[in-house]
Amino acid sequence: MTATKGLEGIVAASSSISSIIDGVLTYRGINIDDLAENATFEEVAYLLWYGKLPNRSELDGLQQKLDQYAAIPNQVIEQIKLYPKGTNSMAALRTAISSLALYDESANDMSPEANQLKAIKLQAQLPTVVAAFARIRDGKEPVAPKQGVSIAYNFLYMLTGEEPAEVAVKALDQALVLHADHELNASTFAARVTVATLSDIYSGVTSAIGALKGPLHGGANEAVMVMLEEIGSLANVEGYINNALANKQKIMGFGHRVYKDGDPRAKHLQQMSRELGKLTGNMELYEMSIKIEDLVTGQKGLKPNVDFYSASVYTTLGIPRDLFTPIFAISRVSGWSAHILEQYQDNRLIRPRADYVGPVNAKYIPIEQR
Ligand SMILES: CC(C)(COP(=O)(O)OP(=O)(O)OC[C@H]1O[C@@H](n2cnc3c(N)ncnc32)[C@H](O)[C@@H]1OP(=O)(O)O)[C@@H](O)C(=O)NCCC(=O)NCCS
Repeated sequence: MTATKGLEGIVAASSSISSIIDGVLTYRGINIDDLAENATFEEVAYLLWYGKLPNRSELDGLQQKLDQYAAIPNQVIEQIKLYPKGTNSMAALRTAISSLALYDESANDMSPEANQLKAIKLQAQLPTVVAAFARIRDGKEPVAPKQGVSIAYNFLYMLTGEEPAEVAVKALDQALVLHADHELNASTFAARVTVATLSDIYSGVTSAIGALKGPLHGGANEAVMVMLEEIGSLANVEGYINNALANKQKIMGFGHRVYKDGDPRAKHLQQMSRELGKLTGNMELYEMSIKIEDLVTGQKGLKPNVDFYSASVYTTLGIPRDLFTPIFAISRVSGWSAHILEQYQDNRLIRPRADYVGPVNAKYIPIEQR
């Protein structure tokens, strides 16, 4: 037995949810470019769960359920108030989502209908949890979700307590579409491994949040912003990047395990970053990002991934950087839950083997002789 480090190139599941073939990403066979241009995030979530785009009444039905479940139990809000000062936002999300299960009487109901409904509940509640956490840590009271509005609108509304601008809602909605699913990425795999033991959907999503938190995965968008802040201005880009590359440092937001010729989602975020920059009259983050891309692609051949331009987009929307990865989770919970439902439909325990490289024929030595 020899191990394939990082499971690179290993096909670990069959799935009909999303595909990456020859560098093209599709959700249920529909090109991500088409969806990014035309679909709303709610349509995409429906597509991922049910395998087809919703008609008007199906979409209205989903909206009603999202409205019905968007509020979170008071107990969870009270718990968030007890989190220590300075709690990491993804750690807070991981804990709060795990705790939501305690207040859902159907948490351990494994019927397909109950699990489908829990997928919608999680999608409805995750934005509420993130917004509540953000306000509480800023010393403010959470804002209750509004009815009959999109997830993008509701999140911005709950975060700020104000009606969001249409352009901000549209940009966030498109970002949510772009992040919704991505084949067997690390967090989705973590979710599938967890529920393949026939554990519940909350456990699967909690595992996924833990995996998404890391800087090699969802945490990269926040790390990109840390880098942009460290660089500080367009004039400093060249020196900073040349120095980082010379010291063999990783440049966050570049490279990908699957795409070697560019991430098809990045161009949409790049365009969004440019348009938002123009609109707000502040192009510096966009221009810095373009210059970083020129240098990193020119010297290393590495292309930006989905996280790179997300950083300037979210910052221009006025979103604090420690909420970037939670926003990724707000979107990706649609994909995680679709994969969890798919795993339940044709389940087999996921239990690979390890290539043992430790000592052999070792003997127990009594403690006095060690
Ligand atoms: C995404 C990522 C984890 C993929 O990892 P991987 O498939 O294991 O690829 P590797 O880390 O083995 O990279 C292959 C080579 O490219 C280099 N490389 C990869 N990403 C790099 C980056 N962002 N900056 C600089 N060099 C990078 C590696 O150092 C390695 O070089 P080497 O062969 O000289 O050692 C990796 O590209 C990365 O860490 N990127 C930054 C984090 C990030 O943006 N994550 C979000 C992914 S959507």
